[in-house]
Amino acid sequence: MMNIGIDLISFYTPQYFLDLKTLAEARGVDPNKFYTGIGQEKMGLPPPDEDIVTMAASAALPILEKIDLKDVELLMLGTESGIDQSKAAAMFAHSLLKLPTRCRAFELKEACYAATAGLQMAIAWIERNPTKKALVIGSDVARYDLRSPGEPTQGAGAVAMLVAANPRILAIDPESGYHAEDVMDFWRPNYRDEALVDGKYSMLVYISSMLDAWKQYKVLSGRKFEDFAAFCYHLPFTKMAEKAHTKLAKEAGRPHPSPAELQKQIGSSLIYNRITGNTYAASLYEGLNSLLDNTADDLAGRRIAMFSYGSGCMAEFFSGVLQTGYQQHLFSAKHHILLDNRAELSYQQYEDIFQLAFPTDGGDHMFAQYRTGPFRMSGVKDHKRLYEKVK
Ligand code: HMG
Repeated sequence: MMNIGIDLISFYTPQYFLDLKTLAEARGVDPNKFYTGIGQEKMGLPPPDEDIVTMAASAALPILEKIDLKDVELLMLGTESGIDQSKAAAMFAHSLLKLPTRCRAFELKEACYAATAGLQMAIAWIERNPTKKALVIGSDVARYDLRSPGEPTQGAGAVAMLVAANPRILAIDPESGYHAEDVMDFWRPNYRDEALVDGKYSMLVYISSMLDAWKQYKVLSGRKFEDFAAFCYHLPFTKMAEKAHTKLAKEAGRPHPSPAELQKQIGSSLIYNRITGNTYAASLYEGLNSLLDNTADDLAGRRIAMFSYGSGCMAEFFSGVLQTGYQQHLFSAKHHILLDNRAELSYQQYEDIFQLAFPTDGGDHMFAQYRTGPFRMSGVKDHKRLYEKVK
């Protein structure tokens, strides 16, 4: 059987962040509740001239600079921060990225699961089009009400993945366990910019759907917990992965993981999420990027477990094998420069940016220029979003 999977992977997050110590002070809570209790230190925030389209295009550009654009005949953009009820965000990204007109481009939605849907559908499509490439992007802004329990888990970012035959990074295994169930753990009605969530319940559904997906995966693949060099989880906050991993180990009949085992099995995958916050559809793949960029081990030939969760809910447990020489094809240096050079916001700046949101008065607006990636949203005119490449 032909190997198909992630050929290149690139991550983008906005250039502004709020330290959760600052938020803790403003909310009158112990900063350790955020730093230790939920395992988060910083949350990324897009300025008014960045949105899911600019983040998606900024994540994808480094990949497209390395390939022949005409090979990309499929673009799927997974998001739950949709900017239009009809037109796919993928169309705007397609234009910014100068992709060929012979390309299927559309948007996918199922909360944080959407990019996994894209990845699996892209693999099936490559089976039929083995010389072509698919671009799968997850891009989101995680927003909860100010002063709500979800507030410290906000974040923003995008991951772009090139999916191809004979991938240079991660060949995805054919076996998958998956679980669909209609639950109201987290949702965002069309009339709201901020998600609603039943926080504790959402954590329980995350775990129970993971265990169901894992049990199926185990039977289908014949593999065991010990067969994985590392585990990447959907990351609403890093403590969630720790809780999920402990449950998985228990289900697999293993002792409670020691701090050293936790560090080895999931530690490197958590580094980026801890300082960007939840990136929803991008989050699992941000974790994979974090693992690959930061692990000191050579994981070539080793198998990585992947757990994707989207509230509502859709869960999938699958895996992939890292390819020989994968390290040479990562954008690690770019990611580190981006994360090391972000600007810190004061509490007031955070609240001002949060309140600004996207204008809904139907008028024309030009947006001030903030620090962005290679693309920005310059304004809105005649109800149309205007995007531009930053000179
Ligand atoms: P909360 O009620 O504010 O927090 O909300 P808490 O009181 O439960 O405290 C959290 C942890 O901090 C607890 O640890 C406390 O003990 C600890 P635990 O008992 O759970 O191990 N703690 C402290 N630790 C050290 N020092 C202290 C201290 N004080 C307390 N001083 C909650 C927490 C996660 C519920 C909230 O942030 C929330 O609602 N978040 C949003 C929902 C969410 O992320 N759910 C995750 C699963 S669903 C999912 O992943 C899907 C999602 O990504 C969306 C999608 O699919 O699109 C969200």
